[in-house]
Amino acid sequence: MDILKKVQDYREDQERLKWEGTLADYLELLKERPYLAQSAHSRVYNMIKHKGVEEVNGRKVYKFFGDQLFGLEEALEKLVEEYFHPAAKRLDVRKRILLLMGPVSGGKSTLVTILKRGLEKFSLTDEGAVYAIKGCPMHEDPLHLIPHHLRTEFEAAYGIKIEGNLSPLNTMRLEKEYEGRIEDVMVERVFFSEDKRTGIGTFSPSDPKSQDIADLTGSIDFSTIAEYGSESDPRAYRFDGELNKANRGIMEFQEMLKCDEKFLWHLLSLTQEGNFKAGRFALISADELIVAHTNESEYRSFIANKKNEALHSRMIVMPVPYNLKVSEEERIYNKMINESDIKDVHIAPHTLRVAAMFTILTRLKESDQANLSVLKKMYLYDGQNVEGFSDADVQEMKKEFHDEGMSGIDPRYVINRISSTIIKKEMTSINALDVLRSLKDGLENHPSISKEDKERYMNFISVARKEYDDLAKKEVQKAFVYSYEESAKTLMDNYLDNVEAFCNKAKIHDPLTGDEMQPDEKLMRSIEEQIGISENAKKAFREEILIRISAYARKGKKFDYQSHERLREAIQKKLFADLKDVVKITTSTKTPDEQQLKKINEVVVTLVDEYGYNSTSANELLRYVGSLLNR
Ligand SMILES: Nc1ncnc2c1ncn2[C@@H]1O[C@H](COP(=O)(O)OP(=O)(O)OP(=O)(O)O)[C@@H](O)[C@H]1O
Ligand SMILES: [Mg+2]
Repeated sequence: MDILKKVQDYREDQERLKWEGTLADYLELLKERPYLAQSAHSRVYNMIKHKGVEEVNGRKVYKFFGDQLFGLEEALEKLVEEYFHPAAKRLDVRKRILLLMGPVSGGKSTLVTILKRGLEKFSLTDEGAVYAIKGCPMHEDPLHLIPHHLRTEFEAAYGIKIEGNLSPLNTMRLEKEYEGRIEDVMVERVFFSEDKRTGIGTFSPSDPKSQDIADLTGSIDFSTIAEYGSESDPRAYRFDGELNKANRGIMEFQEMLKCDEKFLWHLLSLTQEGNFKAGRFALISADELIVAHTNESEYRSFIANKKNEALHSRMIVMPVPYNLKVSEEERIYNKMINESDIKDVHIAPHTLRVAAMFTILTRLKESDQANLSVLKKMYLYDGQNVEGFSDADVQEMKKEFHDEGMSGIDPRYVINRISSTIIKKEMTSINALDVLRSLKDGLENHPSISKEDKERYMNFISVARKEYDDLAKKEVQKAFVYSYEESAKTLMDNYLDNVEAFCNKAKIHDPLTGDEMQPDEKLMRSIEEQIGISENAKKAFREEILIRISAYARKGKKFDYQSHERLREAIQKKLFADLKDVVKITTSTKTPDEQQLKKINEVVVTLVDEYGYNSTSANELLRYVGSLLNR
């Protein structure tokens, strides 16, 4: 990939998209494409819709958020349907500040970042194009130039409703530069960019004593006062606060409720009336989506304070809870790891899944329903089948608590624990046990978890550990069975020889010595018992199998161990049972003999080639399963 070529292409693209013309030219554009004059809220909504909507289980899934936010479909659907969509239709909610409220590291900042980056890209498209008065620091809407007394007529002709007044600066420019001829005022296409401070603003609280309101609304430009003679000349003012710069786009208010009140009051009039006050000027109209975020405890103390009532009534609070699906949580970890500098460390299969199980368990609430453990709930929420529960039950379950997902362990904590373990121990490979241990150690020293929660969480570590034990055992067994495919066949041939002899009241020949022997009753029973065939039923079962074999033979078909479902099951179970000892001995012996070494190597190869382990993690797995089987 030639990076410089790409940079050049990008520049050329921008060059190609540039547009400049008079207001008269712009009005021509609007005749064909009236949507160019859309409001900031409408642009954001269209941007989201533009990427496509999918219906999944009667739920709308907006692809716009798809590849970066996982497991938040319900919250996002609510956000779009209850805020973005009605706000785009100029309903009253757009006059409120959108406040995202959720637990730490639940994806609030990520969500806002997605919106911002999305708008930057969208403004490069035809549907998201933005036009502004040329040279205006606030990229003011050119339609503000249309005088108020003509706006009703304008709406009738163009179908576009104009809101807002021409800013003091452009009022003056219209006089001085264009001699009042609005049709000559130059308009240009602008491209949103946070770096260039166009259409995207961010405000984050710092020390309230030193933080200046100028950060929001701009300030007097002392270097030009002398030139223009007065502080109230808008040309002697820098309209470069975040509210100015975010005009037409989006303004992020980080950790809003940590802000000093004086900053918040500015937002009141901006959201409610669509304008704000700066310096000694008339009100400045601005059209921007204000999105803020906060956590639950700050929010609670904010609304508990009577003084904040007015502000509170001008906010619309949207919860952003934690994801509650194990598989989505795993995706979150994978994403975070890929973005980090531990991405080259080998992570054994199931490691992140087991960590995710623990995390989700801490976020779930204990149901009143007697037969519904949190573990079952965890599987059900993840879309797995649990005996005795239907999809409808799951929908009901979700209604039991309105605030599920607002507490528990956050993803950043998990990733931090994983990275610190890797770095401290200089590991090149990490498995589920390492991670569970590290999560557990972390809990012991965690300052902000109550004693009660700590106990619950410790218990969840054990629950997750048990789930892992099952996964680990199955994995090893599977790997052994694979190399034992042959044995399944041998075992069945052996069984059938004996069954045949038994039914014909004959003897069998020892393949090595050629001696005649009685059928091996012990062997036959050990297989039959696996599927619950009683002593009384054994004869019928054996005869039935012989009949099946001869039926196959007549049709010229080959009878193998897949040909009889119950027999197949019995053989497999017997193999697993025998395997248990093989696995146990093979995996736990300190001084394996040649045969065992060979077996271990085979299994390791299977684990590496087919299940995604590396040789370290495969050997660790074998040793662990060995110790489990020896308990
Ligand atoms: N549902 C999710 N989908 C994808 N990534 C997520 C999700 N939740 C959290 N993350 C990841 O977790 C990390 C923290 O998220 P983010 O900073 O957006 O959270 P926040 O809610 O702003 O937290 P804080 O309250 O600490 O500011 C990010 O790397 C983010 O990508
Ligand atoms: Mg944040």
